[in-house]
Amino acid sequence: MRVESIANAAIPGRSIRIAAIGDLHVHNEIPGHLVAALRNLEGQADLLVITGDLTEGGKIPEMRLTSDLLADLGMPKIAVLGNHDRRGLRRREMRLVLERAGVALLDGESHTMTFDNGVRLGFAGIGGYGGGFWPEEVPDLVSARISKAVALRARRESVRLEAALQSLAGESTDANLVVMHYSPTVTTLGNEPPLKYWMLGNSLLGKVIDNHQVDLVLHGHAHLGNYEAQTLGGIPVRNVAAHVTGKPMIFDIHAGGTIVDIGNGESLLAGPVASSPRKAS
Ligand SMILES: [Fe+2]
Ligand SMILES: [Fe+2]
Repeated sequence: MRVESIANAAIPGRSIRIAAIGDLHVHNEIPGHLVAALRNLEGQADLLVITGDLTEGGKIPEMRLTSDLLADLGMPKIAVLGNHDRRGLRRREMRLVLERAGVALLDGESHTMTFDNGVRLGFAGIGGYGGGFWPEEVPDLVSARISKAVALRARRESVRLEAALQSLAGESTDANLVVMHYSPTVTTLGNEPPLKYWMLGNSLLGKVIDNHQVDLVLHGHAHLGNYEAQTLGGIPVRNVAAHVTGKPMIFDIHAGGTIVDIGNGESLLAGPVASSPRKAS
């Protein structure tokens, strides 16, 4: 586990600053506080990660509205789709809209980025699915009611995550991050009702993550969840749903792989910002 608290942030050397947020749920307009929070990242973050539910209904006009804002941000962007985005069936067009705004959409895919200070990061991105966390993490409450279709889709998503992580295994990176919408663990579900756990993620995803060299997992979807936890295997997990965090959360990833969780960035406002956007390849 290599995520450290801000108290230990004085680490010399090269680093990349990531901002992460999920669950924007954009419909007719983008809430002003989200616009401000995202625009504030300009000049502060080197990369923006969006953990799904960019839109409320998965409609192309909603995705265009979101993408217009994202396009204005002068940094690379990585996103996965959430269940609300998946309500729309025009996935290819959705992907194109995002790509035109400089957003790399990861759907069971891996992606590496080398920044011009030499820091190289690996990402595996997937929407994920529900299914539940029993018997590994919680007692079996409702599994008998889970349909075979849910179980099959959960299994399929875990297989796709496995493939994405395997393709990262041969890469030489400073750190590997998993970006997903659903949760890989019950430990970030906070105040979500246990009867809803099966809709919020599954343990198969956590097991896959624990079998690979992963340094940080970012997810959303659990609006009533908590921010900070870990997989059963101890890999740090952060639920960056906007309903939980209020604004993008900031991480500094240092050459060599140490990750410093800066939190919501309020501490950055007190002094000069050391980071500036760097072009990624
Ligand atoms: Fe959501
Ligand atoms: Fe969601």
